Amino acid sequence: MGDMATDALKRKVERLREEIEYHNYRYYVLDQPEISDAQYDRMMRELEKLEEENPDLRSPNSPTQRVGAPPLEAFEIVRHTLPMLSLSNAFDENEARDFDKRVKRFLGSTDKIVYVAEPKLDGLAVELVYERGFLTIGSTRGDGVNGENITQNLRTIKTIPLQLIRKEIPAPDRLEVRGEVIIRIDKFKELNRKREEAGEPPFANPRNAAAGSVRQLDSKITRQRPLEIYCYGVGEVIGKNFKTHWEILQTFPKWGLRTNPHIRRCQSIDEVLDYYHEMNERRENLPYEIDGIVIKVDRLDLQTRLGEISRSPRWALAFKFAPKQETTKILDIVVQVGRTGALTPVAVMEPVRLGGVEVSRATLHNQDEIDRLDVKVGDTVLIQRAGDVIPEVVQVITSKRKGTEKAFRMPSKCPVCGAEVVKEEVIYRCIGLDCPAQLKGRIKHFASKRAMDIDGLGVKLIDQLVDKGLVKDVADLYYIKKDELIALERMADKSAQNIIDAIEKSKTKPLGKFLFALGILHVGETTAEDLANHFPRLDDFFHLSEEDLMEVEGIGPEVSASVVQFFKDKKNRESIERLKKAGVKLIESKGKEKGKLAGKTFVFTGTLKSYGRDEARNLVESLGGTTASSVSKKVDFVVVGEDPGSKLDKARDLGIKTLTEEQFKKMIG
Ligand code: IVH
Repeated sequence: MGDMATDALKRKVERLREEIEYHNYRYYVLDQPEISDAQYDRMMRELEKLEEENPDLRSPNSPTQRVGAPPLEAFEIVRHTLPMLSLSNAFDENEARDFDKRVKRFLGSTDKIVYVAEPKLDGLAVELVYERGFLTIGSTRGDGVNGENITQNLRTIKTIPLQLIRKEIPAPDRLEVRGEVIIRIDKFKELNRKREEAGEPPFANPRNAAAGSVRQLDSKITRQRPLEIYCYGVGEVIGKNFKTHWEILQTFPKWGLRTNPHIRRCQSIDEVLDYYHEMNERRENLPYEIDGIVIKVDRLDLQTRLGEISRSPRWALAFKFAPKQETTKILDIVVQVGRTGALTPVAVMEPVRLGGVEVSRATLHNQDEIDRLDVKVGDTVLIQRAGDVIPEVVQVITSKRKGTEKAFRMPSKCPVCGAEVVKEEVIYRCIGLDCPAQLKGRIKHFASKRAMDIDGLGVKLIDQLVDKGLVKDVADLYYIKKDELIALERMADKSAQNIIDAIEKSKTKPLGKFLFALGILHVGETTAEDLANHFPRLDDFFHLSEEDLMEVEGIGPEVSASVVQFFKDKKNRESIERLKKAGVKLIESKGKEKGKLAGKTFVFTGTLKSYGRDEARNLVESLGGTTASSVSKKVDFVVVGEDPGSKLDKARDLGIKTLTEEQFKKMIG
């Protein structure tokens, strides 16, 4: 191939990357896509193909490289060109007005000062360096002077452009962007739910989750975390002159850098105070946490004249909101035992209203946290709800101490089964093999909607089944007799039959769901799915080594070791054997992309003779297809059983292909 062709190819690849980054911005930053997902996917595939065929054209700044890089041993230190300062705080209006007076006094002026007011986002400050428009280094704030090089982690965040859009405004030679990496409250809850399901300790709040995710040595883990950025300032800029902070914020989006939608330019401190009250009211309804507003002098020449004092700029101020906190008394500290045996200390408190709800329990997370706070039973404490998550204890009011408070120690024996408790890092774990609390937790997890989905098997019933000795292991569920259920408290014939039916119905499941249901430490829903897609047969798992498992994308040494250990365990093997004997049938996974129904969407209407509705859905999904509950243009096939409903009419209206049960059977083979 001649040089010309290579040049043309190079330009083509560059244009594709620019184009993809632009659509990425329309999609993730503006939420206003201009093209369909399919068109976007086509562009990505074309780029992937070109890069594969021409390895010399590969670049870490290609949108194909947002997937994460090999894990690091440690982070390198990056020295910030200009220090990343911190902000001085104000807690009431007088202090905010004092700031305005100070600014005027320092400038020797009585003119109104124009400010920019912004939400103070509760996340982690980072710096992004763009050289000639390309992201070269991303770092944490660190101590303000030296930060950590987390470039490969930041590259996985979709709202961070890998190259600036240069359609309207050329990129400066050097642009240092500063912003806050955050996790939304709903995404945070979802993340914690998944962690708890995988037997991992939950994060205390969205900020900790963001900080912990950004500082991962393995960027493949960071990639799976729902991180986002809002950009709020600059460090060093070479090749572009800004006059005001507002101009910077207005220019950012043109380069593809996301700014917060609630920023406002205010003509006086009074307008800033109005903004503060408005944001304080809006706060509850924002999807992410903010703990105040930041006020910045708009004109950059004035900022320069004001300078800084003791690591804080004289031209900016954080005006904090009153926290949603209350004081109450700790009546007791109890210990909960989870399905992995993890012990969680929980404070039982005199009930108080906090942000509109009555609370009487707060998590103390772990013993380290109890030591850090020095909490004792009988203490009066300050509690808060961080972004309406679980309430937590923030501080002990030591002045209220009487001397009768009692220190708490994690028990050395499990409070439920009496077995030994061992400490692993910050987690205390009951290692009892027959701990009823663990068993109850395991059954609850096994039967849950996202696992085996046994409808009606709730906490109260599980308690009875375990306490009466009817269930000693998840496999026992499939051997329960209706009479045994009827003999339980408050169990009528009809409900007993419903439970038996639900258990029966749960027997056919895709392998991924089953692996998740087993509750293997560190194996959450997604990991289980990935494992099943890679190793389609359950029996494979009895022979897999840690190395085999590590071949699966996104699976590291911790997960591999845990899976191997689980399938080596004699009790677990026996349990799986008994599940199989009882008729638990696993649908082998063909992998999402590989399955013969990949990319196809099915809807079912009417009754099928050979399959239950869920069974049919599971079958489709195990072959790589998707199912929907209503007919739309996106649906490829409508499978028509006996007595079809209105879905059939809709399918005909839209001209969607219909299949009889026989045709469907043939299709899935
Ligand atoms: S400006 C000199 N703007 O607050 C200006 N900071 O204590 C310093 N923060 O580490 C930063 N939202 O993590 C600025 N809109 C905003 C902010 C913000 C949150 C955080 C940032 C910084 C800390 C300053």
